[in-house]
Amino acid sequence: MANIAYIPGDGIGEEVTSQGIKVLEYLDGAYNLGLKFEKFDLGAERYLKTGDILPIAVLNKLETFDSIYLGAVGDPRVEPGVLEKGILLKLRFYFDQYVNLRPIKLYKEEFSPLKGKGLEDIDFTVVRENTEGIYAGIGGFLKKDTPDEVATQEMISTRKGVDRVIKYAFEYAQKFGREPKLTVCDKSNVLTYAHNLWQRSFKEMGKNYPEVEQNHFLVDAMTMKMVRNPEIFDVVVTCNIFGDIITDLGAELQGGMGMAVSGNINPDSISMFEPVHGSAPDIAGQNIANPLAAVLAAGMMLRELGYGNLTPKVEAAVKSALENNMVTADQGGDLNTDEVGDYLVKTLKSNEEGE
Ligand code: NAD
Ligand code: IPM
Ligand code: MN
Repeated sequence: MANIAYIPGDGIGEEVTSQGIKVLEYLDGAYNLGLKFEKFDLGAERYLKTGDILPIAVLNKLETFDSIYLGAVGDPRVEPGVLEKGILLKLRFYFDQYVNLRPIKLYKEEFSPLKGKGLEDIDFTVVRENTEGIYAGIGGFLKKDTPDEVATQEMISTRKGVDRVIKYAFEYAQKFGREPKLTVCDKSNVLTYAHNLWQRSFKEMGKNYPEVEQNHFLVDAMTMKMVRNPEIFDVVVTCNIFGDIITDLGAELQGGMGMAVSGNINPDSISMFEPVHGSAPDIAGQNIANPLAAVLAAGMMLRELGYGNLTPKVEAAVKSALENNMVTADQGGDLNTDEVGDYLVKTLKSNEEGE
């Protein structure tokens, strides 16, 4: 039994998540999961029609669900930040989803953009801090629109906030890591307050996990290593903004934005699952967006809901789509978004019959 709040959002959000819903509905029927979905129309259309972004009544209603499944928000007709901060960041903060789990996993050898690096090399997980840092929204303008204007944007790191995400990352590495190894990525040579705290927290917490190998990269060197030696990473923990940026780089390592998954996790409360990519206005409405990230996000949600046995089945279906070229144009195929979803359901069905 699980009640899932479904927020398709803007642009390609609905196109890709409706494939995830297709897959979830199939699994629900096949394995009697008792999943229930309720759709919420948050996003640009509602905002432009009514001025509503995320009304408190909707937030209160979302509190009654077990999980949230989200497409993407953001629309060229709306000033940047209104929907992104007002819906996506608001949900992450309101539900205190302090971990943003972003696996970087190459599923098909030939999509590696790195010469000589394959499936074994591109397989690590970024644990992105998700409620603090420069995303805290603190700042303002002085003398706005004058030649003397000063704009500030503050980065906030709290001891509790940093400790809890680093602890989660150590536990995650211990449970799921290959080696296990945890890398902390920061800019402690310049951010000598905020990331000094990260350094101290990492070192102190690390004493409790002697079996986890521990290392450190400054974020600039991190991007270099991700391209040159991605195989050295197992689990990486980093602050909000660096996690945002390095996971887009990671998305490309794993075959493109249409492949990258994101779980906004509060281990004790309501988590939210979404693809890493945005609303992609440049391809919206054409039924050509790659739905695999959204489908994999649905698979990750199943694991958090306690149906972890089904997550590998979803991943296997995605792998099969890639191997058989039953994919959208960005992955070298000629299927449309819906057809990929149909193929995944067909594959799940035939895999089940073969068991
Ligand atoms: P984007 O991720 O939407 O698109 C970047 C590029 O990747 C585009 O060329 C797009 O066509 C391509 N792309 C993205 N997803 C794809 C998919 N599934 N299949 C094939 N190609 C795909 O990033 P952007 O263009 O910088 O942002 C567009 C809007 O989305 C903005 O309003 C931004 O704020 C918002 N955004 C939202 C989220 C979110 O809701 N989680 C994330 C990122 C950006
Ligand atoms: C992401 C997005 C968001 C972020 C934006 C849309 C607020 O880029 O989920 O990676 O910066 O976290
Ligand atoms: Mn991003």
